[in-house]
Amino acid sequence: MIELNDISKSYRSARGTPVEVLKGMSVSVEAGEFVSVTGPSGCGKSTLLLIAGSLLHPDGGSVVIDGRDFTAMNSDDKAHQRAETIGFVFQRFHLLPYLTVRENILAGGVALKRSSDEVSGRAEELMEKLGMVRRADHLPGELSVGEMQRTALARAFLNGPKVILADEPTGNLDPENAEIVMKALSGFAGEGGAVLMVTHHPADADRADRQLKM
Ligand SMILES: Nc1ncnc2c1ncn2[C@@H]1O[C@H](COP(=O)(O)OP(=O)(O)OP(=O)(O)O)[C@@H](O)[C@H]1O
Ligand SMILES: [Mg+2]
Repeated sequence: MIELNDISKSYRSARGTPVEVLKGMSVSVEAGEFVSVTGPSGCGKSTLLLIAGSLLHPDGGSVVIDGRDFTAMNSDDKAHQRAETIGFVFQRFHLLPYLTVRENILAGGVALKRSSDEVSGRAEELMEKLGMVRRADHLPGELSVGEMQRTALARAFLNGPKVILADEPTGNLDPENAEIVMKALSGFAGEGGAVLMVTHHPADADRADRQLKM
């Protein structure tokens, strides 16, 4: 479902020092597979996920998702395909502070021209499933940390993605909410989705079908 082939990436610091982060790295995740990525801080895990989600262009190599080469697309096609195919979950949620829970979830659908009834029905379903109905009209600043991540999860699932990319999705959560997130990710893979999850928690890494150590 998602294939990263021979990826390389270097950054250049503001002072011009080059930092070589990824060197010929290949990873693939099949449909229905849950893969975890662990490794020391700074080894390039977030970089790998950003490249997998085509939010960052690699210096070399290709990213193929659902048979399409994202590295060869123009930015409009990429944005559209990304919205159709990929859901993101981050450690720090990245909710928009001036939008309510419902609006944040629906923001995930903006890039796709689907009927608004279908999309809002799906948003209500996801809020129901993730226990967010009573907070639908709250702003992120009025939520608990666990509620923020459940909102972000609903946003990630809104468009019916084929791939979920998760960067330390339980990193800031209490055990109960961490379990909700892990169950949602495993359930998604159980229904045929592909999950690539970075984590610092060995117990979470163990729950994946396959573990990648960087
Ligand atoms: N925009 C940037 N410019 C320069 N260097 C960067 C940039 N982004 C990341 N780096 C460097 O690249 C390396 C990899 O960063 P990355 O965020 O991918 O690590 P990570 O494995 O996710 O770490 P952590 O576990 O702490 O989140 C780090 O050493 C970091 O300092
Ligand atoms: Mg990181």
